[in-house]
Amino acid sequence: MTKTATLDLDDKKLELPITVGSEGEVGIDISKLRSQTGAITLDPSFANTGACESAITYIDGERGILRYRGYDIATLAEQATFPEVAFLLIYGRLPAAAERAEFRERLTRHTLVHEDMKLFFTGLPHSAHPMVSLSAMIAALSAYYPEHDTPEEIDQNIIRLLAKAKTLAALAYKKSIGQPFMYPRNDFSYLENFLYMMFSVPCEPYHVDPVVERALTKLLILHADHEQNCSTTTVRTVGSSGANLYASISSGVSALWGRLHGGANQAVIEMLETIQNDGANYQKYVDLTKSKESNFKLMGFGHRVYKNFDPRALILKQAADEVLGKLGVNDPLLEIAKQLEEVALADSYFIERKLYPNVDFYSGVIYRAIGIPTDMFTVMFALGRLPGWIAHWLEQRNTPGTRISRPRQIYTGETARDWLPLEER
Ligand code: CMC
Repeated sequence: MTKTATLDLDDKKLELPITVGSEGEVGIDISKLRSQTGAITLDPSFANTGACESAITYIDGERGILRYRGYDIATLAEQATFPEVAFLLIYGRLPAAAERAEFRERLTRHTLVHEDMKLFFTGLPHSAHPMVSLSAMIAALSAYYPEHDTPEEIDQNIIRLLAKAKTLAALAYKKSIGQPFMYPRNDFSYLENFLYMMFSVPCEPYHVDPVVERALTKLLILHADHEQNCSTTTVRTVGSSGANLYASISSGVSALWGRLHGGANQAVIEMLETIQNDGANYQKYVDLTKSKESNFKLMGFGHRVYKNFDPRALILKQAADEVLGKLGVNDPLLEIAKQLEEVALADSYFIERKLYPNVDFYSGVIYRAIGIPTDMFTVMFALGRLPGWIAHWLEQRNTPGTRISRPRQIYTGETARDWLPLEER
């Protein structure tokens, strides 16, 4: 028998159907609420609202579980390649050997961008943040590859986006430091190619360090999806209007940029540097978060969903030690981060609010160790999140009955009033 919840509102009694997910998550279906009662639900920032059903990623924030298509994040981070995880998220299964080879071939073949796109970069100031370039260039791809509504054409554009985004990211970096753009090489893997385009110059050979490639693989896999977060919700919202893939994903890049979301990885390093320069007084900064006037938060701490620990942060803390050790990098910011974590986790304010390090807390230290400049950190997050955004955009598009996203509001402004002639205002 289907379970229902009962709502009493004034003199009306409403039976609300209950939807139960494959992991037992319970959702009260209120889709008929307004038509049957005239009322709406009020849930600012959507902390209690499920916007869709999705089969892509499962999170249990209380138990620190994260799975893509049923596979545990720790296993994927250890075993998989990044394109394999992209395939898994987008197509719903791990690729068989022949599929993996074909996917790799397609991703390699589409890595070049139209030569004219380089001119866009010429028009941007050197000081442009690389997130500006990434968002603008991804939107611009829709001018070169207009969308026709067949599944094959959409799939081709998905491949183009996955293949070209890393080229665009590397071009943005090269522009910012004034070095010549490097063309991709088809004998390289997905991430080798990215590192090559980022760090090589035409005048000398470049060797991709396997330690760096593996570290980047792990980082990008850990960022690849996180169900209905701010940027993915943005992508779904924009996509719900019928906007094309590139336009929708470009809006996700913009949403990710904010300091409370993907921009936190850059903000963490800036915060750790401030603490370092201020004599490493950890308690001072932990205490600062408690004052409402200061508006200060420990960047890289806290999460809307994780209320125990963020499994990605645990993996990255360990990876930071490993990668820095293998590369022989001694970064004092790693020690600062560890000390700050220890002081914060022992503080009652953080204990009561269940605030733990999130994925952004240790990622920056690893990016630094592998040579990624601070203002490229959020771009790296975007490259990692790309398969997740694509998977959600596609899932929504392929779900029959999807309607345009259009929340309601409770109006609190003036009630009807008469027009005031200019001389009476
Ligand atoms: N430092 C100090 N206090 C915090 C922090 C923090 N980082 N995060 C939350 N709090 C406090 C917050 O002030 C509030 O206290 P009170 O109940 O007294 O008002 C309480 O904890 C609950 O926090 P919230 O702001 O209601 O939580 P939220 O779910 O709305 O926000 C968050 C989640 C991630 C935006 C927030 O924790 C935050 O701003 N963290 C710092 C930025 C950050 O690291 N962002 C990366 C998120 S993970 C990667 C990603 O998905 O983008």
